[in-house]
Amino acid sequence: MNIPAVTPGLKQRLNVPDYVQNARLIAWVGEMADLCKPDQVYWCDGSQAEYERLCDQLVQAGTFRKLNAARRPGSFLACSDPSDVARVEDRTFICSEKQEDAGPTNNWTPPAEMRARLQPLFDGCMRGRTMYVIPFSMGPLGSPIAHIGVELSDSAYVAVNMKLMTRMGRGAVEVLGEDGAFVPCVHTVGAPLAAGQKDQTAWPCNPETKYIVHYPETREIWSYGSGYGGNALLGKKCFALRIASKMGQDQGWLAEHMLILGVTNPEGKKYHVAAAFPSACGKTNFSMLVPPEGFAGWKVTTIGDDIAWIKPGTGGKLYAINPEAGYFGVAPGTNTLTNPNCMASLDKDVIFTNVALTDDGDVWWEGMEKDHGQLPAHLIDWQGKDWTPEDGKAGRKAAHPNARFTVAATNNPALDTAWDDPAGVAIDAFIFGGRRSTTVPLVTESRDWTEGVYMAATMGSETTAAAFGAQGVVRRDPFAMLPFCGYNMADYFGHWLKVGGKLQGAGATLPRIYCVNWFRKDAGGKFVWPGYGENMRVLKWIIDRVEGRVEGQETMFGVSPRYGEINWTGLAFSPEQFATVTSLDKEAWTQEFQLHDELFDQLAQGLPQALSDTKAAMEARLEDLLATH
Ligand code: GTP
Ligand code: SPV
Ligand code: MN
Repeated sequence: MNIPAVTPGLKQRLNVPDYVQNARLIAWVGEMADLCKPDQVYWCDGSQAEYERLCDQLVQAGTFRKLNAARRPGSFLACSDPSDVARVEDRTFICSEKQEDAGPTNNWTPPAEMRARLQPLFDGCMRGRTMYVIPFSMGPLGSPIAHIGVELSDSAYVAVNMKLMTRMGRGAVEVLGEDGAFVPCVHTVGAPLAAGQKDQTAWPCNPETKYIVHYPETREIWSYGSGYGGNALLGKKCFALRIASKMGQDQGWLAEHMLILGVTNPEGKKYHVAAAFPSACGKTNFSMLVPPEGFAGWKVTTIGDDIAWIKPGTGGKLYAINPEAGYFGVAPGTNTLTNPNCMASLDKDVIFTNVALTDDGDVWWEGMEKDHGQLPAHLIDWQGKDWTPEDGKAGRKAAHPNARFTVAATNNPALDTAWDDPAGVAIDAFIFGGRRSTTVPLVTESRDWTEGVYMAATMGSETTAAAFGAQGVVRRDPFAMLPFCGYNMADYFGHWLKVGGKLQGAGATLPRIYCVNWFRKDAGGKFVWPGYGENMRVLKWIIDRVEGRVEGQETMFGVSPRYGEINWTGLAFSPEQFATVTSLDKEAWTQEFQLHDELFDQLAQGLPQALSDTKAAMEARLEDLLATH
């Protein structure tokens, strides 16, 4: 391998600490510094002292506001530029050599063309700023399943968020040693400063130009113009999903947009479930679920809330790890009634972004009134403007709908003891669920792996504030991976079928696959299913199915529970209400299959035949249903 020469002069110019021994890393940082032209280079060691120092600097710069230490110790509020509040899917690119390898659901540009376009943008992009070198491990340090990334960023906000979200700092560099491999991730807010110029804004970014670019074959990430969330914290969606999904395709494993939870029954038997819901559709919530009345002795523990890396392992089982070390979760809607464990996680040492500020220096967001019994009389909203309940009545939100908190996983009182076990946990069931006001029932079990893959592949969901653009529009979001799959979606379906087929061929029992929908609405537009902790009732039915305790009933779309198979203790939910959330409407499903058709037409090149066959079988069952009604 070609190890570049590292001269003492280069090391000095780049402020390389003694513990950094990786020549390729140093040479790459040198190249990037030459391109981006920062005022200085700073290597993050990941220490607590460094974290505190950078937070202080962010307070000085006006990006952070320190919250009232009596109410929210160690915590800060950042408010972003109004143009920079969510992931930018239309500016996200998968630049594989061939267009068909990115597939029809990804934006694609030939790599050479994209490199030529980015070159002038990155040239001098960090002028007047510090380049932070942010080494991180996705997965436990040194574990055989973990992978190392190094992000270069001109944002201190990114550096401190990466400290909470990943195993960041010196430890990751030590794992690299002299010749370890890493995924290079370059990030800039795209707002260079002229000599002597100071930032005019507390949230520098580029309101006009944004690029979130992936080169899956060379495993590189280049991000320009945004400082927000998944656009800027490159370990998360860019690495752990887009690049890692490609690594998984090449190496026989899965990188998924899934929470991982442990569920222990009163007899002490523990199961593990991984669930994929699209952005802002309840993963964090479900992963921290508190069982309701009627579930004495049941316990749910969190392994991860957003991303799972899943590998075939001993006994033909699929083992999942959470590559992250923190949560970047949706604030609005979170309160002690919907998610008490999450609220407890947020007591201290939190970075809040785009929530509102109370008069006593604490935070507030829509949904918190359920805890306090009333709206606060006055707030400063996420854009720094005064807010009163009158503004709320007029429809102005105090917190941005995609306002988020960043917090270390270790703050979570429901954290599973195995959350950072390098071996991972063996998955017993997969759940896929979209946000659908109509059509899709509360829960169904697929008859087999292929039907489960079909259900996941054709999943639809109403769009949310997690992505920039229109909200509430139903779109297909296969496996909740539409914005996150680093290669052709049809090939990704094939990969899932292959992983399952291989295990099954070797005699393994595969995890069962379920499809859920917490979001069916009544004629008045209200959610019928109470959701949140009450989702335990569905989770228990799933475990009962895994244990063979309940029979369910065959439907056109998988096996669904009978009313009497659900534990209703402590919840008034009538058979009529149950019917509203479980019914399969013939007309709605005829239309739904047309939408599946559209997806399959779009993905025709490389679409596995088994999925078309599954669709034909379902449609035939729907015909039978039409004939018998
Ligand atoms: P990302 O971090 O974007 O991937 O989102 P997520 O899937 O982790 O979503 P999260 O758990 O943060 O929930 C997003 C929103 O959905 C919040 O406003 C929740 O209050 C709401 N939500 C979560 N679970 C339920 C549920 O069971 N029913 C209803 N009606 N809303 C829910
Ligand atoms: C999502 O949008 O699915 C998130 C938030 O988890 S972000 O990290 O911004 O992508
Ligand atoms: Mn997510």
